[in-house]
Amino acid sequence: MESPPADTAPQTPALTYRAPTEEDHARVLAVLDRWWDGLGGDDGARQRAGLLPRLFFQHFTDTSVVVERDGHLVAFLIGFLSQSRPEEAYIHFVGVDPALHGHGLGGELYRRFFDTVRAHGRTIVRAITSETNTGSRAFHARMGFTEAEQSFPGYDGPGTTRVTFVRELEP
Ligand SMILES: CC(C)(COP(=O)(O)OP(=O)(O)OC[C@H]1O[C@@H](n2cnc3c(N)ncnc32)[C@H](O)[C@@H]1OP(=O)(O)O)[C@@H](O)C(=O)NCCC(=O)NCCS
Repeated sequence: MESPPADTAPQTPALTYRAPTEEDHARVLAVLDRWWDGLGGDDGARQRAGLLPRLFFQHFTDTSVVVERDGHLVAFLIGFLSQSRPEEAYIHFVGVDPALHGHGLGGELYRRFFDTVRAHGRTIVRAITSETNTGSRAFHARMGFTEAEQSFPGYDGPGTTRVTFVRELEP
């Protein structure tokens, strides 16, 4: 089949990657429940919002990223270099618009983060997720993480069972 002429072919707007700014804080909070598909109900929603205070959009922007398409937020990653463990970096929060799941965007954000922190001499990346987030567990396994603790009750206080991930970076 012939391709349509270039000027009538559907155009997919390009993805743009940039460091977050403080203005992105509210935009990210606004998508959390939809992007997490309401995981954990009201309690889950409260926990997620509490995990992303404004300070991440002020003090951790060099190692974090937001992705936009046509001006709309489609993904974000909040991560940082450990201040206390000079070999380590930490991915705190990542989300991709459900409309784009399974197209490699989450993996691209992780690979970019690995490159960024490797350039700062980091060789270990850590992350956590909730025990019930099976999609996140599968994703982290595909990204080369192992589950250091498969079930850590009370990790962040009562009622917060977490899985902890670790991955070594190749030099
Ligand atoms: C987890 C998440 C970030 C993955 O993003 P994504 O763009 O869909 O992931 P990718 O397309 O880059 O997938 C990378 C690999 O992980 C696998 N993967 C991703 N999500 C998966 C899922 N839910 N179940 C099984 N495998 C999954 C993909 O199949 C792919 O494997 P491949 O390399 O063999 O092809 C995204 O699903 C998301 O935002 N989920 C809701 C928020 C969340 O749970 N965040 C993580 C906890 S903080």
